[in-house]
Amino acid sequence: MTKIKTIFVCQECGSESPKWVGKCPNCSAWNSYVEETSVPVSVEKRGGIVFKDNPVLLSDVLMDTETRYSTQIKELDRVLGGGVVKGSVTLIGGDPGIGKSTLSLQIGYALSRKALKVLYVSGEESVQQTRMRAERISSVGAQRAEPLLYIVNQVDLDVIIEYINKMNPDVVVIDSIQVLYRNDLTSTPGSVSQVRDCAAILTHLAKTKNMALFIIGHVTKDGTLAGPRVLEHIVDTVLYFEGERYSSYRILRAIKNRFGSTNEIGVFEMTSGGLMEIANPSQIFLSERPQNTSGSVVVPVLEGTRPFLVEIQGLVSRSSFGMVRQKAQGFDANRLAMLAAVLEKRLGLNLQDKDIFLNVVGGIKVMDPAGDLAVAVAIASALLDRPLPSDVVVLGEVGLSAEVRSVSQLAVRLNEAEKLGFKRCILPKNNLKTKVELKNKNLELLAVETAREALEYLS
Ligand code: TYD
Ligand code: MG
Repeated sequence: MTKIKTIFVCQECGSESPKWVGKCPNCSAWNSYVEETSVPVSVEKRGGIVFKDNPVLLSDVLMDTETRYSTQIKELDRVLGGGVVKGSVTLIGGDPGIGKSTLSLQIGYALSRKALKVLYVSGEESVQQTRMRAERISSVGAQRAEPLLYIVNQVDLDVIIEYINKMNPDVVVIDSIQVLYRNDLTSTPGSVSQVRDCAAILTHLAKTKNMALFIIGHVTKDGTLAGPRVLEHIVDTVLYFEGERYSSYRILRAIKNRFGSTNEIGVFEMTSGGLMEIANPSQIFLSERPQNTSGSVVVPVLEGTRPFLVEIQGLVSRSSFGMVRQKAQGFDANRLAMLAAVLEKRLGLNLQDKDIFLNVVGGIKVMDPAGDLAVAVAIASALLDRPLPSDVVVLGEVGLSAEVRSVSQLAVRLNEAEKLGFKRCILPKNNLKTKVELKNKNLELLAVETAREALEYLS
């Protein structure tokens, strides 16, 4: 008879407590404890995995060069650090409906075509539904069904482990971790202890069997992976799939990666035939840009090591109510408020009774401080109804005294702007003080010290 005990678990960090607490002593989150029932886990239930190895000298351990499987999806391979590492565990998180199942099925396809045995465990959709999805993806041409892609509809962890032990697959996809459950835990699927235990057991299994494991996890509204952050510690790599629901562009971002950099992102477009890679995102993001319109400014932002040209649009209108509104899509609202205050106080622009709207085109989120000056110029351009010439890009961080501060990795940003045919770049003077090798023959550099100087280029 197994002993069932009731414990309380923090939804944020996974700390446990025998009684309910209002504030988590570990992560200081308020009201995050939920009641759960837990049962001591026997070794057999952990997938029969027992670690009996004795300690050895580190220098005696043989080095194993990591084997990587390329998925042939370049955007994904880059985010993973050069392909899927054998024996690694990858968590793919994202909002429901963003395309996690589509991506993981495409990964399954790609890897099965390399003669790897893939097991796709679909807990949310029937095998028929997955087959239909596969048809949509494979109808594009290149991706044809392969005999080594196995699929099963199962949510009981013990049964899944049995399949894995029987089949010995090279790659396993679990879609999704929130619907799995272990029989001997009484808490519901998706609860903290179920998600954590299932993930931990599967991770152990992946390590001992040296198979690549993909775990899909839905993200809750507040941005945390339901059931919760603890998964991030367990796995090797955490990828987040982001994008606006009604925009077709999706961005895959590495949050943690034991086998590569966390700076890289991959850009995809959701089409009727599955996810397509976008090799040159800047071109797409700028393709519908209006010419010579006030409020539109292009900035080369960096995502990791990769430059993107994005269009920032500002709109300023008279406020019809007593209360002014400042809304930003794809940009931090506090930062927008700060920049608006700087424009008003330091540059004397009359924004007092105005509503300000800011939009970053293409569902991109600009977190790079180098986007500040572009935002400031976009707002000023919208207010004054004076467009910025369409061959100009704007770069610079703006401080509280309206000074323009230098940005990182200038050369990479300038190269991208030049590549896409821009002729001039407004940039921080400070950036040119240090000796940098710039090889941009076709790009005129317009150095500025303050935001006011940048506004002089408005027509
Ligand atoms: P899905 O992968 O099911 O999302 P998740 O697993 O993250 O919940 O993707 C769902 C959306 O993608 C759905 O609205 C339909 C759309 N979709 C396409 O546009 N094209 C396709 O080829 C596929 C398979 C899905
Ligand atoms: Mg899904």
